[in-house]
Amino acid sequence: MQIVMNIHSKILLGLVSVLALSSCDDGDIKTSSAVTLKDGYVVKVTGALANASSWSELGKSYTLVVAGFAEGDSFPTISKIIPPESESIDITLSGMENSVSTVELCAINSIYKRVVSYDTIFSFQDNPDWDPRDTIFYEADGRDVGVYCGIYNKLIAGKGKCFRCHGEGSAAADMHLVGKERSYAELVGVDAKTVSGSKRVVAGDADNSVLYRVATEAKTDGALPWHYDHVSNVDGLDYNNQKLLRDWINAGAKMN
Ligand code: HEC
Repeated sequence: MQIVMNIHSKILLGLVSVLALSSCDDGDIKTSSAVTLKDGYVVKVTGALANASSWSELGKSYTLVVAGFAEGDSFPTISKIIPPESESIDITLSGMENSVSTVELCAINSIYKRVVSYDTIFSFQDNPDWDPRDTIFYEADGRDVGVYCGIYNKLIAGKGKCFRCHGEGSAAADMHLVGKERSYAELVGVDAKTVSGSKRVVAGDADNSVLYRVATEAKTDGALPWHYDHVSNVDGLDYNNQKLLRDWINAGAKMN
């Protein structure tokens, strides 16, 4: 099992080891003892995950991890890789920096930025009275951590997102995106309404997929074949999500 830490935690580790060394000498470095760890807290994640290997099909850009984040941060302070092919996992996270506020089951990209979070395993904020001596257990219970599930949860589902216009009430372009299976069935390999001769998603070809075009082309780039400028008006169509869509489509646009 491989341990991944960002620069922040490496600095922290460095400080900790300097402190350990300096405890035997009289160097003035002791003033750094303000660095503390959520020492004693142990988070143990076990059980089966579904579709974990779909991330490795996207190449080396993404990694599934159990990770601790400081509040409002999208770069983990500490993380451990979930081995993609393993049927069940057994991961322990400990020695967290005090700033960690949540431990999450998520996918990070090549610069260690969180791209999708599947679940909050533990929130220190929400459990201020938790006794650090009690291990935090999390049973994965077959949770779907596949790429499409991530795209669906993060980008498509929920109030104010695609559901607003492609949901139960109205279905712009006759496209219903409610439900993982249904949205997939209405996107992949289906003829687009707005661009004749094109498909919404062509597996393996993001540039010719209307979904990807709708998610990346704004009116300012030139006349659009569809009327509604999604890029300028729909939440979540930022660079990381656009890249995730692209990578997913180019890797074959699989559901699982
Ligand atoms: C405020 C309303 C609105 C929201 C929110 C919205 N869309 Fe749309 N979408 C439309 C309209 C209207 C059309 C079709 C008509 C047009 O623009 O020509 C459309 C068309 C599309 C098409 C083209 C479908 C085809 O068959 O040609 C795709 C793909 C699409 N939307 C994806 C999305 C995704 C993905 C989201 C969420 C990230 C989203 N839309 C959010 C209004 C919306």
